[in-house]
Amino acid sequence: MDTVVSGIRPTGFLHLGNYFGALRNFIKMQNENNCYFFIADYHSLTTHPTPGDLRTNVKNVLIDYVAAGLDPEKATIYVQSDVPQVCELSLLLSMNVYVGELQRVASFKEKVRRQPNNVNAGLLNYPVLMAADILLHRADKVPVGKDQEQHLEMTRDFAQRFNHIYQNEYFKLPVAYNFGNDLIKIPGLDGSTKMSKSDNEGSCVYLSDAPEVVRKKIMKAVSDSGPTEPGQPKSQAVENLFSLMKAVSAPDTLQYFEDQYQACQIRYGDMKKQLAADMIAFIQPIYERILELRSKDDYISKIAREGAEKARESAAKTIKDVREIIGFKAL
Ligand code: TYM
Repeated sequence: MDTVVSGIRPTGFLHLGNYFGALRNFIKMQNENNCYFFIADYHSLTTHPTPGDLRTNVKNVLIDYVAAGLDPEKATIYVQSDVPQVCELSLLLSMNVYVGELQRVASFKEKVRRQPNNVNAGLLNYPVLMAADILLHRADKVPVGKDQEQHLEMTRDFAQRFNHIYQNEYFKLPVAYNFGNDLIKIPGLDGSTKMSKSDNEGSCVYLSDAPEVVRKKIMKAVSDSGPTEPGQPKSQAVENLFSLMKAVSAPDTLQYFEDQYQACQIRYGDMKKQLAADMIAFIQPIYERILELRSKDDYISKIAREGAEKARESAAKTIKDVREIIGFKAL
């Protein structure tokens, strides 16, 4: 049985990008593997949330996880900061990671550009902590979206480096869990190529959006004035509508609008109505479970408590092994 590790930063509610990037095929995933799904609250500190926001966001992500279908009886669901062993592993790995390579990471360079007044060391060390999350349970597979590809590659590098330095095969080299497809990137409603809360709140559809909210967002999504000649390439915004439709609609629905586009007869209003209906059908069961779970505080705390216990057990074993391999021994 393979071990699967996946994390999501608690920056608000889960959106469709998170769902398709990290939770796609969750039934197969949790039935066939030993899964660890956690809420990356240490990672979220790079943006300096208030204590109140942090707590609320962690709870909301936990609720969204369970509502989306993760089963606490099958998968270990936990909060990262409940398993502080990850900090020790991050520190130990960081001794063999070079500042130059961290400075060259695309997500770091992007943050430096966007938030020049808050280039904290946590941002620089972000990929090391992420590698520690994954290696802490000696994962085989990591379900992630396209945006995390580089971080995962670095995890493999750090694992391999550790194995090489200490002349063993302790860490496996984890690969993306992509179900035989390319890594996915769900685009935004605002014409941007990635649905992302931190880049643009307006690009997101959340799993916790009520049907009417979803409809309004889709109807307002950016499009263009339509193709004027057959074979005309799609604008980014229209490409996005098709990608979203591919994610939630039936293949023949997608084909119908593709044909309409190619024949220059497409009416984006009709396409959006259909997309809204299909997206609502997709989200509504999750949305209803979210509403239900919001009043079940005891159940949510129990999931977090029991998940933390299981995750700490697995983490303690890895830390014990790693300490021994490194040479920390009782005097
Ligand atoms: P985060 O919190 O930005 O996103 C969580 C997961 O959602 C995926 N994702 C997307 N996938 C497709 N299309 C999108 N528009 C989209 N937006 C987000 C991300 O790829 C990710 O899988 N560094 C991670 C959190 C993390 C982690 C880990 C993940 C920390 N430790 C260990 C896996 C394993 C992050 O910031 O993801």
